[in-house]
Amino acid sequence: MWANLPRILTLVVRGFVLTLAVLTAVVVIRTVTFPSYQTSPPECKTTDPDFIPADEERLARFTSAIQFQTVSYERGVGTPQELAKFVRFIQKSFPTVHSSPMVRRDVVGNYSLLYRVEGSDASLQPYMLASHLDVVPITEEANWEAPPFSGQLKDGYIYGRGTIDAKHSLMGSLEALEFLLSRRHQPKRTLYLAFGHDEETGGHFGAKVIGDVLTQRGEKIAFILDEGSPVGDGLAPGVSKLLALVSVAEKGFLQLRLEVNEEGGHASMPRSESAIGILSKAISKLEDNPHPNMFGTGPEARMMEYVATEMTLPYRILASNLWLFSPLVAWVYSRKPQTNAFARTTTALTRFNAGVKDNVISPEAVAVIDHRIHPMSSVEEVMEFDRKVINDPRVKLNVINNRPPSPTSPYGKDSPTYMMLQETIQQIYPDALVTPTFMVANTDTRHYLNLSSAIYRFNPYVMTPSDLPRFHGVNERISVQNYERVMNFYYHLIVNMDKPLELKRHGHEDEL
Ligand SMILES: *[C@@H]1O[C@H](CO)[C@@H](O)[C@H](O)[C@H]1NC(C)=O
Ligand SMILES: *[C@@H]1O[C@H](CO)[C@@H](O)[C@H](O)[C@H]1NC(C)=O
Repeated sequence: MWANLPRILTLVVRGFVLTLAVLTAVVVIRTVTFPSYQTSPPECKTTDPDFIPADEERLARFTSAIQFQTVSYERGVGTPQELAKFVRFIQKSFPTVHSSPMVRRDVVGNYSLLYRVEGSDASLQPYMLASHLDVVPITEEANWEAPPFSGQLKDGYIYGRGTIDAKHSLMGSLEALEFLLSRRHQPKRTLYLAFGHDEETGGHFGAKVIGDVLTQRGEKIAFILDEGSPVGDGLAPGVSKLLALVSVAEKGFLQLRLEVNEEGGHASMPRSESAIGILSKAISKLEDNPHPNMFGTGPEARMMEYVATEMTLPYRILASNLWLFSPLVAWVYSRKPQTNAFARTTTALTRFNAGVKDNVISPEAVAVIDHRIHPMSSVEEVMEFDRKVINDPRVKLNVINNRPPSPTSPYGKDSPTYMMLQETIQQIYPDALVTPTFMVANTDTRHYLNLSSAIYRFNPYVMTPSDLPRFHGVNERISVQNYERVMNFYYHLIVNMDKPLELKRHGHEDEL
């Protein structure tokens, strides 16, 4: 047998080299032949006869919209007078929309707005564009470069709360509709505009009621577009072009209260374990054992594949060969909080309370864990995982609040609505790549889940990494150019919806 050893070793080495050669060949071939998922529809040009310019009048309307201080503070606590004034302003600002016999407007839940624009072909399912009237409160007012409710124009930017969240889409979609109706165009497909008034505090009195109204009408919606992820500029590694991120799902959440009750007593005669000690161990186990890395199971993997052919070399090899490199990419994702949030259900310890006196052993210890659930997982799975990891019946788990992750909307070439959205984005941003992703935050669409199986969350403006803190933060602003793109994006979307969506499913490749 020992005599055979050199031969066996030679065989093993040969086998290894051969495998490596085959793997390399497959990786190279896939990298070179990987399909492109991008399209190049006719570009929207400023010289088009139906281009909507951000002229003085439209900018003035947008500025005025920013000046209404429609702040939502907490659930049920908002600014009713400002909302009422804003609603009147909207009515006055878009006379064609508000006088057209094709348009029915309902005020829902006192302040939210639901418009129905009657299409000429009643056999087509309606679709819905959503946004919201309210904004988050102002922080660090002293650090703003322009007053937060001024809508001031400065160096090509409009400053103010709501410019990117989300009065841009509210005003932008109304401008598009006003423009369209003043040109006497009746859409083929019925269209809803839905504007909730308390999105920032959960939409319980706005979007919730809009959803109920539409459910009562028995309405089925072909697709819904709400605010969401932006066109990223430098937001993704390996991609030098603009990257339009279309969110096809939302993470869920689970807030858990962990509680331990043990005998208390005087600190002079402690038992070997205390409530605080037991709970601390449970929490440190949860932090040491993150929920499984799910990279590759949801839209986050497609996010790379859809732009693979456009990536710089090392990334291109990885993205075209996730069958092999998925574990490596998963590991890279897990290294930073910003990417880790896309790879797994996250665990955040948000509260820890115990003890009242220096010399008394606390009989009780309480902590709160905030999980954000990956779209491919579930509330039950997360609970089960935590129980197993803690593995101590003395730690009681109580659900404070939870929402399952949203279903994932269809995307890719098999989905005519996704492709229509992609095309529209690329008409406005001819140089941008479009890719699916999911949101780690929530939108009003949580109240619309039963109305449609195709729900997308997207903001048609560009954001750089340095713009991200402006969202809900200081110096929120939008460039005039971006606002112009927002208006034209909605206009093109409405016009594109006149084309037969369903037909595309049967492979009109040239049209895609
Ligand atoms: C609407 O307004 C009425 C009267 O001001 C009030 O009683 C009611 O609670 C309000 N409803 C909502 C949903 O805010
Ligand atoms: C959707 O329908 C289910 C079943 O009728 C219901 O339990 C759920 O609350 C509805 N969700 C929304 C967001 O309306």
